Amino acid sequence: MKIFVGQPLVEPSTVDLLAGHEVVTGGGNLPRSEWPLLADADALLPTPRERITAEVIAAAPRLLLVASHSVGVDHVDLAACRARGILVTNTPDVLTDATADLAWALILAVARRLHEGEALARSGTWDGWKPQELLGVSLSGRTLGIYGMGRIGRAVARRGEAFGMNVISFEKEGTEEEFRKFLLKVDVLSVHAPLTDATRGRFGAAELALLPRGAILVNTARGPIVNEEALVAALHSKHLLGAGLDVFEKEPAIHPGLLSLPNVVLLPHLGSATTETRLAMARLACEEIARFARGEPPLHPVP
Ligand code: DGY
Repeated sequence: MKIFVGQPLVEPSTVDLLAGHEVVTGGGNLPRSEWPLLADADALLPTPRERITAEVIAAAPRLLLVASHSVGVDHVDLAACRARGILVTNTPDVLTDATADLAWALILAVARRLHEGEALARSGTWDGWKPQELLGVSLSGRTLGIYGMGRIGRAVARRGEAFGMNVISFEKEGTEEEFRKFLLKVDVLSVHAPLTDATRGRFGAAELALLPRGAILVNTARGPIVNEEALVAALHSKHLLGAGLDVFEKEPAIHPGLLSLPNVVLLPHLGSATTETRLAMARLACEEIARFARGEPPLHPVP
């Protein structure tokens, strides 16, 4: 089989699991200049950075399989794949703990103002301990609201219980009234839903206004679930205490209003970024291709 891999992966993954196949690796982002490489590709292995649009699929007439190196598949036009009978797979489970850990890193960073403290410690201007310096907020006894109680949401909730938080959750099946009631109770909101038509823009000005004053918002799922313009306004007005963001509405672009706010911690989509996790993701995506080539059923087909 000829396999196009979107960008270099953590190895050993392609070198052993795809040995015997022709593997061509792109430079990331799948620019049009790379599309001719798709003309005779049987399988694609994209990361969330490579958008597998209907146009890309049309440029790959032999394509049979898209094995995504991600749990989220919003970068793949699933309808276009379905229409061509192309199988799509993803990499759930292996990134659950790493992503939940990073959500917690953001919760703690915002609640305890780690980025401001770190800057002060490095600045050379810190002149010693002060009772009123860089006061954050305590988390125990507060309410952690999980939006999307899937694998990662549940892992974040378990960590929340260990921190002494009351955990509540909202599922997409809930009614608008239930959603409003959920928002009114949440001190720390952690977003863990996939990006779909139903979740795009789910947190706009009206929803953020329902969060109690002083709430924290953390997003390690997908940027477009939160309206960044509304988030900037809610942070500016100090309605929200702070935000921790690993994903962005127009990724990799970051809203300029976020860049200048002190009460925001920004990360470049690092949720799954541990060596162990990225290796496991790469190996799982390659394994799906190897299984397909051997005529075996997929481990994680995307419906
Ligand atoms: C995913 O897998 O969907 C993450 O966003 C990248 O690890």
